Amino acid sequence: MLGVETSCDETGAAVVENGIKTLSNVVASSVSLHQKFGGIIPEIAAREQIKVIILVIEEAINRAGIKIQDLDALAVTSGPGLVGSLLVGVETVKTLGLIFNKPIVPINHLHGHIYANFLTNSNLNHGLEKDWPKLALIVSGGHTDLVLARGHGRYKWLGGTRDDAAGEAFDKVARLLGLSYPGGPQIERVAKNGDSNRFLLPRPMKNTPDFDFSFSGLKTAVVNLINSISHKPLAADQINDLAASFQQAVVDVLVAKTLKAAKKYQVRQILLGGGVAANSELREQISSSAKKMGVEVLTPAIEYCIDNGAMIASAAYFNFKPFPYQKINAQPGLYL
Ligand code: KG4
Ligand code: ZN
Repeated sequence: MLGVETSCDETGAAVVENGIKTLSNVVASSVSLHQKFGGIIPEIAAREQIKVIILVIEEAINRAGIKIQDLDALAVTSGPGLVGSLLVGVETVKTLGLIFNKPIVPINHLHGHIYANFLTNSNLNHGLEKDWPKLALIVSGGHTDLVLARGHGRYKWLGGTRDDAAGEAFDKVARLLGLSYPGGPQIERVAKNGDSNRFLLPRPMKNTPDFDFSFSGLKTAVVNLINSISHKPLAADQINDLAASFQQAVVDVLVAKTLKAAKKYQVRQILLGGGVAANSELREQISSSAKKMGVEVLTPAIEYCIDNGAMIASAAYFNFKPFPYQKINAQPGLYL
């Protein structure tokens, strides 16, 4: 299966066997072109993707040691995401499917983030009834969602963010602290030298009875804290401590809500996915708290947390629903 992913600034293509074995995984990113703006400029992202998509797909096929004719099917992210970026992947894969007469499977990007786990954790039992339901926490630049999976393709959305996504909050707070884009890895880096108890920040919606999140108030709390510090620019220890305090507030909320859902729905496995799932504090703290409840937390390898084609191929293998090319479109606002 070839998986192609172009929903944001990355152009990913990968060849995956049986949904679990990555034969190649190539990702080109235009992130350096967006850095001076502090966020993605959609027009720039799509123009770069048009330049590299064929090269990236060719490279993925070459590295896998196969020919395009050897593929059984093609998978592509159809949404959600930036419309110009999605169109590049969708139209390229439709064209390849038509030329080489291969089935085309459109995939929801968020399902892809869940299936990133299947590429990494060989102990994930595929489709055995006793292993379901599983709970997925998808935390990325655009999404924060809790999803109950009762089987492949049988998903129930439990809740999500009411405003900023977790990754978006990391990116915005990083910008306030003068750190570069994308902010998540930068906050994690400086937080390692910081004291997470120095600044008292809110834990929004941590104890509400639903499974929703809200991170925009937390960002505002960081703004207010920075405004209250009269000495500018911020000293290194203040940046480190603010980053650590902010990161801990996000992790506290994500862990609390996820474990509450795990308990309510009696799951034995939690799957993390999305760029923020690369955060080592989140990975460690959610794993150790869940362990105390007898729940296992699975995390994708870091390379599969960020956007990539392999997770799209895996999702398509386990949810094999090909569509005629005429019916496949970019769907920027696709729901889970
Ligand atoms: O899944 P992803 O690559 O793209 C989307 O689908 O949005 O996620 C990107 C997001 C960015 O907001 C980035 O700051 C965040 O993931 N991120 C992190 C870390 N690595 C990436 N957030 C916290 N800690 C990290 N180590
Ligand atoms: Zn993503």
